[in-house]
Amino acid sequence: MKHSEIKKVVREGYGKIAKTNSSCCAPTSSCCGGSSADDTSRKIGYTDEELSSVPEGANLGLGCGNPVAFASLKKGETVMDLGSGPGFDCFLAANKVGKSGKVIGIDMTPEMLDRARENARKGNYKNVEFRLGEIENLPAADNSVDAVISNCVINLAPDKKRVFKEAFRVLKPGGRLMVSDIVLTKELPDNIKDSMEAYIGCIAGAISKDEYIMAIKYAGFRDVRIVGESYYLELMNDPGIRDLIEKINIPPDVVKEIAESMVSVKVQGMK
Ligand SMILES: C[S@@+](CC[C@H](N)C(=O)[O-])C[C@H]1O[C@@H](n2cnc3c(N)ncnc32)[C@H](O)[C@@H]1O
Repeated sequence: MKHSEIKKVVREGYGKIAKTNSSCCAPTSSCCGGSSADDTSRKIGYTDEELSSVPEGANLGLGCGNPVAFASLKKGETVMDLGSGPGFDCFLAANKVGKSGKVIGIDMTPEMLDRARENARKGNYKNVEFRLGEIENLPAADNSVDAVISNCVINLAPDKKRVFKEAFRVLKPGGRLMVSDIVLTKELPDNIKDSMEAYIGCIAGAISKDEYIMAIKYAGFRDVRIVGESYYLELMNDPGIRDLIEKINIPPDVVKEIAESMVSVKVQGMK
């Protein structure tokens, strides 16, 4: 499949998710979603305080980590979130950088942007801006941001090397990259690799951990290191993930194999 066709399917998939999940407490039916978005988010490292600090509906349980928690954001900094979805991490980042700082969320799905902008309005966030765009062609100037964050998105991009190059370009010298994402430790079964449902579900687009780290280094980042990782085994018991497995029609014996192949990593790099 051509890269443009993959992105079209991903955009349509997330467009539907943005439209169908109307409350933060609604069951999610997506990527890394669970029976309730907040339950899933607690499992991947968000605190109750963080969950209650954002506008209702900003968390759809689509992430696979908590990049803001390890980004060491400071007052006055400019942060860019690649694939910002409904804005959850942008709002957490905005709380950290304060009024003198700025957060820019980038997403290619117009329905997600509508939701994110509505959430910003509800929460009266003046220091957050959402821009329509692809993370492979960031709508931002060179050397303009202090930190780039991303949560469970780069696995969805067909050209990951390009995404990291773009992140490097927009960062100021000394700027930092902090991403949570899904990577593989083993090859996925062929029928999963070819499934677009599994692609939208943040499984089939994932690459090996080594390739992922190489792509970050290749873009020019230094001090690249994995600061945390967790296997997906526990999340595989989550009702939302079970829904996805049923939807893709994965035989039970293959489920364990997939779970053992997928790792959620937190990676950092410096420009
Ligand atoms: C799994 S969701 C994660 C959303 C958000 N980071 C969160 O944790 O709630 C993936 C998001 O990335 C967006 N996305 C996927 N591929 C993209 C691309 N190539 N360029 C821009 N946005 C993309 C989707 O539209 C969707 O909103």
